[in-house]
Amino acid sequence: MDETVRYAVGLDVGTENVRTVVASLTKEGQLSIVGYNEAKNTGMRKGVLANLAGPADAIDKMLGEVERMSGYEIHSATVSINGSQLLTTKTEGMIAVGTVEHEINEEDLYRVEDVAVTGRVPANREILDVIPFGYSIDGQEGVRDPIGMTGARLEMKANVVSALQPNCTNLRRAMEGAKLEVERIIPSVVAGARAVLNERQKENGVAVVDLGAATTGVAIYEEGDLQYVGVVPAGSNNITNDLAICLEINTEVAEEIKRRYVTGSFSGEKDIVIKVNREEMVFEREKVDEVVRARLAEIFEKVKKELKKAGYEKRLPEGAVLIGGGAKMRDIEVFAKTALEMSVKIGAPRDLGGVATAVEKPEYAAAVGLMLASVEGGGNRDFKQGNKAKKTGGFLSGILKKFRF
Ligand SMILES: Nc1ncnc2c1ncn2[C@@H]1O[C@H](COP(=O)(O)OP(=O)(O)OP(=O)(O)O)[C@@H](O)[C@H]1O
Ligand SMILES: [Mg+2]
Repeated sequence: MDETVRYAVGLDVGTENVRTVVASLTKEGQLSIVGYNEAKNTGMRKGVLANLAGPADAIDKMLGEVERMSGYEIHSATVSINGSQLLTTKTEGMIAVGTVEHEINEEDLYRVEDVAVTGRVPANREILDVIPFGYSIDGQEGVRDPIGMTGARLEMKANVVSALQPNCTNLRRAMEGAKLEVERIIPSVVAGARAVLNERQKENGVAVVDLGAATTGVAIYEEGDLQYVGVVPAGSNNITNDLAICLEINTEVAEEIKRRYVTGSFSGEKDIVIKVNREEMVFEREKVDEVVRARLAEIFEKVKKELKKAGYEKRLPEGAVLIGGGAKMRDIEVFAKTALEMSVKIGAPRDLGGVATAVEKPEYAAAVGLMLASVEGGGNRDFKQGNKAKKTGGFLSGILKKFRF
């Protein structure tokens, strides 16, 4: 039997739920899920921490069970960040690398990245990732991997993903409260995309829409790279709250109606009958549909605005992939297809080994994607002090080829 050489942990900090996925890795590169769990979260507002104790407690509680299940004591994780504060900024930089015979090396790449990034995002932001779109050498464009090539002038175009500094600091503090070291911070929707998209989709153009409790994240990919991240400050809980207000019921009953009776195709005809405290309550189907439809329309209108802002309206041949707990609403893809005017499917992580079926669900996409990012290891890139990115090599590179598109 293959021996486990290390573990990888992904931790998704959602407004309503925290989720974690633990995988073991063998020397041969075999990955299997050995633990997962979720817990109700408190202390978050629209994807952002409003206090430290709530999330720290929820995570602490959740991890106890995961550790028992996996037999592994968790001390670090790759963690998600969310909220409309997330930003992608397109930048470019240029450096002189020396004489025409100079062979471009890693150091040159770090330098050009530094030039492309420094001062391009506002000072109160932490850079979470720098995605190089391509390089040009002595004016010749379209170079994907310039290492070893010769030239005197190196230019780079890149996409910088950033979050507000205080939000990152608070997230790290909450993790400290749960005795966890943060390996790396990744936007939830980007992590989710990593778990559900294939190479073809990313190459041709696709949007991932993460329908969470209080937010709806949008990530757009084209030519294999992340092009845009945007977060709409409304989610599936808004539907529940609207139902509670309009039907004059508490949120538990509203949640039950949403989960059991609402469909995104609005094809239900019968009125809804629910027993509340042994008393039968009847809700008019038409009224329920009207409330849900109005909120869904508003959310997807905002998603469409994000696509437009990014310059991708009607430009995504692979359509949209829905993830997050909100994507579990029955037939939501039917509504989304009409609203977004593109093909839509539900996304879930696939083809993972071990006890994977439990996490092959839309709401686990972000946690799985974070775990996959943790597999990558060496993720502690410090962009502020020049780029010290470590290259992953050895046995991990094989796994990366499989999971990183
Ligand atoms: N079967 C279901 N049908 C409809 N909605 C569902 C279903 N299951 C869960 N949801 C909704 O999904 C939402 C929770 O999704 P998720 O766990 O992805 O959110 P989160 O990550 O905690 O929040 P956010 O991403 O906004 O910070 C809730 O609004 C919940 O009502
Ligand atoms: Mg979420």
